[in-house]
Amino acid sequence: MAEANPFQDPQRFERRVPPCAVVIFGANGDLTKRKLLPSLYHLAIERRLPQGFAMVGTSRTAMSDEAFRAKMEASVREFLENSEFDAAVWQEFAKGLFYVSGDVSDDALYSNLKARLDAVALERQTGGNVLFYLSTQPSQYATAAAGLGRAGLANGNGGWRRLVIEKPFGHDQSSARDLEVALHEHFTEEQLYRIDHYLGKETVQNILAFRFGNPIFEPLWNRQYIDHVQITAAESIGVEGRGAYYQEAGALRDMIQNHLLQVLSTVAMEPSAVFEPTAVRDERAKLLRSIRPLKPEDIAAHAVAGQYGPAALGGKEVPGFRGEAGVNAAAMTDTYAAVTFLVDNWRWAGVPFYVRSGKRMPKRVTDIAIRFRPVPHSLFATDTARPNLLILRIQPEEGISLRFSSKQPGPGMKLRPVSMDFNYGSSFGMRTPTAYETLLVDAMTGDATLYTRQDMVEASWRAVEPILNHWNNTTYNFPNYDAGTWGPKAADEMLERRGHVWRVP
Ligand code: BG6
Repeated sequence: MAEANPFQDPQRFERRVPPCAVVIFGANGDLTKRKLLPSLYHLAIERRLPQGFAMVGTSRTAMSDEAFRAKMEASVREFLENSEFDAAVWQEFAKGLFYVSGDVSDDALYSNLKARLDAVALERQTGGNVLFYLSTQPSQYATAAAGLGRAGLANGNGGWRRLVIEKPFGHDQSSARDLEVALHEHFTEEQLYRIDHYLGKETVQNILAFRFGNPIFEPLWNRQYIDHVQITAAESIGVEGRGAYYQEAGALRDMIQNHLLQVLSTVAMEPSAVFEPTAVRDERAKLLRSIRPLKPEDIAAHAVAGQYGPAALGGKEVPGFRGEAGVNAAAMTDTYAAVTFLVDNWRWAGVPFYVRSGKRMPKRVTDIAIRFRPVPHSLFATDTARPNLLILRIQPEEGISLRFSSKQPGPGMKLRPVSMDFNYGSSFGMRTPTAYETLLVDAMTGDATLYTRQDMVEASWRAVEPILNHWNNTTYNFPNYDAGTWGPKAADEMLERRGHVWRVP
């Protein structure tokens, strides 16, 4: 009899969070308020947190535990997604919230934190397990890791210690390596959880289920049947008070280098033998390494930068990017980026992956469109048939549609495109967990499958770095698209050169 595969143990898929404390650095910041606390509280509503649970917030502002709890309650009430605030659950949950103030570069913060964690471990029975979550300025990651290390907090006395960090992981390959070296002085690779919240989205995880849980699509999933792939992440919002950060980042760094290349790798990777962190991440990394870095002379034809200008939207004047708070009036930042990626392996040789992302687009939508090749020989004299199109809708209307040709009723053989639709909401009729809920549970249970790894980070930088360097040395005639439109004309021309057009999502 074959030996049982431990990674196919159904118990493993029923996440049980062990007793632990979560320490959030940057507890006064936007991410804590909008995502982390609402997610932890929602896990409490669903009774997915253990009895022995605590959360310790730290930031520079001096605050009592009570004031911190009141502040967190206000945030949770404001940002809880798709569920009702339950005062009784909050009462219980809030008893496990604590606060320690201090400066990340001051050793006193870590000794105070240590004393507080020791007390909390006794009071809340957390077993000495601690998940540190850095939601600070990226420039403070190394300092915080060193502070934790020096205070002896990176190694638990019997309990586990893990460190979650948010993107950006460096701003290019070499700074990503420097960050890794600094983190590794105090934490091992197994302790590091680099979060990319797109990997935690249900619909992104479902790409794996769709591809590897259904045998009918996989035989078609290659260059023989697929003509090209379009990945779109459009946002209708502008930079929403993050002008200063965004000015330095830009769309290619902010969305494509991380989130969308992870989505691309999910669509294009080979199946792993088991659903286990190392195996899955090895396949993703392999795919990311197969993306062809563009040569300087090819960049103009394969990558397009855009920046939005002012426009009247819905009767309201919205500023152009250069008119946003905190943004330089001559900023050369890309608020839109479109890239043709080519994957150099047997499965995908010659299949373009068009990836685009932009702010101030006509609507918020993220999807993947897989265009199949046309029929090799058409039996029907019709110009209305269209090649098969598979659309994986990531957000906001999560689902999958398959477009195919059908006979139009009536005399003659006229074909018309129709579609088969799967919609998450109506099929499952239940609330979908947010990406942060999923990823927090994973980190607390010690499953890094949906977290990115250093080699993946470096491979992604390798794929975009030539473009970033080229753009840095180019003066663009920005703005080149109006707020509320689908981006610059040059992005349409990029596809036209290969005989393709962007789908309107
Ligand atoms: C973040 C980017 O990582 O992702 C933001 O920094 C962007 O600029 C956000 O708005 C998009 O995430 P989501 O989940 O709303 O698609």
